[in-house]
Amino acid sequence: MTRHVLLVARAVTHTAGHDTVRRLAADLRAALGAPVSACFLDGAAPSLHDALDTAVTDGAGEVLLVPTHLPPDRYLDTWIRRAHAHWAARQDDPPPVSVTAPLAVQPALVTALAEAIAGTHQPLAGAPGPFRSAAWSTVPRHRHHVLVCRGPRCTAYGAHEVTDTLTRRLAVHRLGDDDVLVTATGCLFPCNLGPLVVVHPDDTWYPHVDADLATRIADDHLRRGQPVDGRRPRSST
Ligand code: FES
Repeated sequence: MTRHVLLVARAVTHTAGHDTVRRLAADLRAALGAPVSACFLDGAAPSLHDALDTAVTDGAGEVLLVPTHLPPDRYLDTWIRRAHAHWAARQDDPPPVSVTAPLAVQPALVTALAEAIAGTHQPLAGAPGPFRSAAWSTVPRHRHHVLVCRGPRCTAYGAHEVTDTLTRRLAVHRLGDDDVLVTATGCLFPCNLGPLVVVHPDDTWYPHVDADLATRIADDHLRRGQPVDGRRPRSST
């Protein structure tokens, strides 16, 4: 029976953080000679749901989830269980899925830190200028501010494809941050409506956004200023 290992991480603020988790999975795959891949509870792709689907497609007889986050993150530990339960309820014959203790409490972490302390060190000699650049005092003058929820439920429902599509369409229309500022957010609360996109200052909430609706939001609302299907601000409905 093939066991697939999934390193489950949380949103990290920079794609380099996502790449680090993916690299860690690749190194583990080489070290163990077994299927290991990375996935994300929120904020990045693939989602835990998608990674479980892939493991099943690849013939996993069982799946082991490893909460991969430092420092300890109770949110991740709780939501791995919820996301798995939601995924399993939709499968005909899901493989057994178990979960390890979080990375942050693994005894080997002490060994790794001790090795880092005993290893080579680089002296720090940077200038403080970039810490407070004048550029960080300017409030952006964008026309629209778009919030794309990347919370755990919206991530499971497909927020990554929504973000990708929006970003691509805005690039096609040559709309940059000065025109449309797109911000990925944590949970915005009405999770059952996810994937969720909110356009301000119009206060227009788009529920159940897929690639098609994301394209229309970019083309109609953000480019032409016409909310899709004549939607009105939430406050006036
Ligand atoms: S996860 Fe998107 S609204 Fe809660």
